[in-house]
Amino acid sequence: MNLTLRYMTLQDVPQVVYIDRLAFDLPWSEHSYAYEVSESTYSYMVVLEAETPALAARGWRRWLPLNGRSTGRRIVGYGGLWHIMSEAHISTIAVHPDYRGRGWGEILLAAMVQRAVVLAAGFVALEVRVSNTKAQNLYHKYDFETVGTKSHYYRNNNEDAYDMRLPLTAANQQRTGERFRALQARHIFADLYTAHEPPRAQPGRMA
Ligand SMILES: CC(C)(COP(=O)(O)OP(=O)(O)OC[C@H]1O[C@@H](n2cnc3c(N)ncnc32)[C@H](O)[C@@H]1OP(=O)(O)O)[C@@H](O)C(=O)NCCC(=O)NCCS
Repeated sequence: MNLTLRYMTLQDVPQVVYIDRLAFDLPWSEHSYAYEVSESTYSYMVVLEAETPALAARGWRRWLPLNGRSTGRRIVGYGGLWHIMSEAHISTIAVHPDYRGRGWGEILLAAMVQRAVVLAAGFVALEVRVSNTKAQNLYHKYDFETVGTKSHYYRNNNEDAYDMRLPLTAANQQRTGERFRALQARHIFADLYTAHEPPRAQPGRMA
């Protein structure tokens, strides 16, 4: 599997929004993603891209819009990281439903934690629905701990959120780095994200 981890661009937004609508009851708007990618100065949005004949053969029409491209290269998952002061906040993470259970969500989470380490954040934080045990398992696997509950956090059904955090102690930084390198050895993906600056910081590269 040919995988690439890289920054989200404006051209990616339609594919990301498509997956977002499959993944969440309260999806973000196209405008929100466009803002994160092109205007926000504290946002580090990531995508995982796969190139495989299988993806194209298994129904490219679901991977809308294609924007005129004819290759099998598609976004299979994405994540959002905000860096504000000492906090690195994971704002979103999702994998296309057809491609879950392959370790790709783990790659995205590990990459954002590793990016937070490179940014010298003090801790990583996120919210997760109390009913979302799959995602909680993923976060627990990466040593996130539940530090509180935010009541009626989700406006569609008033569901509570767990406030989960991972302090980036020296030990956790080392562990994160080792895990990320182990994932890279297992899945063999190109990493254009964790040690790179976002395109907005490099005039001329933004879409
Ligand atoms: C959460 C999500 C990103 C995980 O992506 P994924 O690619 O399927 O996950 P991975 O294959 O990398 O699995 C990593 C870990 O997640 C947990 N996990 C994933 N799928 C699971 C399942 N069906 N049941 C229980 N735990 C599961 C496990 O801890 C797993 O580690 P393991 O394989 O060693 O058991 C994906 O399910 C998703 O997009 N969900 C919808 C969006 C969402 O809920 N995002 C989180 C918002 S807070």
